[in-house]
Amino acid sequence: MNTVLYEALRARRVTRNMTPEPVDSSHLDLVVQAARYAPNAGNRRLQTIVPVADQRMLQLLRQVSPGMVARPMAAVVICIDTARAVDFGFDPHAPGLFIDVGTAAATMLLAAQAVGLASCPVTSFSRAAVARLLALGPGQDPRLIICLGHAAADQPPAMDASHQPAHA
Ligand SMILES: Cc1cc2nc3c(=O)[nH]c(=O)nc-3n(C[C@H](O)[C@H](O)[C@H](O)COP(=O)(O)O)c2cc1C
Repeated sequence: MNTVLYEALRARRVTRNMTPEPVDSSHLDLVVQAARYAPNAGNRRLQTIVPVADQRMLQLLRQVSPGMVARPMAAVVICIDTARAVDFGFDPHAPGLFIDVGTAAATMLLAAQAVGLASCPVTSFSRAAVARLLALGPGQDPRLIICLGHAAADQPPAMDASHQPAHA
């Protein structure tokens, strides 16, 4: 049993209160590189990983992201490369493309844990605004943002799913 790995899985929890401590650029690189180790349907890699370290850009991203409670000091935006997906003959809304966003996200969240960074995935954001801010090409569809930083001592309570309606 790999207890270190299992403990990392157990200990990773979302962080919605981050300190102003900067994120080391080498740590951000390691998180980005980890996407390459995620399982990916057909190994086609139809996702684009966009790192964001510019503080002004992070503030702007937060302004268009109602679900971004944390004030991240870095972020990673996972996009579906719809242009390449269509070249491969896929419907750009094919479920597999979204599953691969999830595997990339889960792997990068664990990589963040491994390098000592706190993290929070966010899907509640304006995709059009994020695409515009990051000057993404028309074939790039931002689908998930991973906020990165260092955990503050006090954290909001974990979400209580029992009060939320089930949805598809
Ligand atoms: C696809 C996905 C989207 C999420 N979107 C948000 C979000 O917009 N804002 C947020 O604060 N947390 C978001 N989360 C984090 C979840 O709320 C969190 O993982 C869940 O409450 C369980 O907490 P834990 O990861 O610490 O166990 C998202 C998680 C996933 C997997």
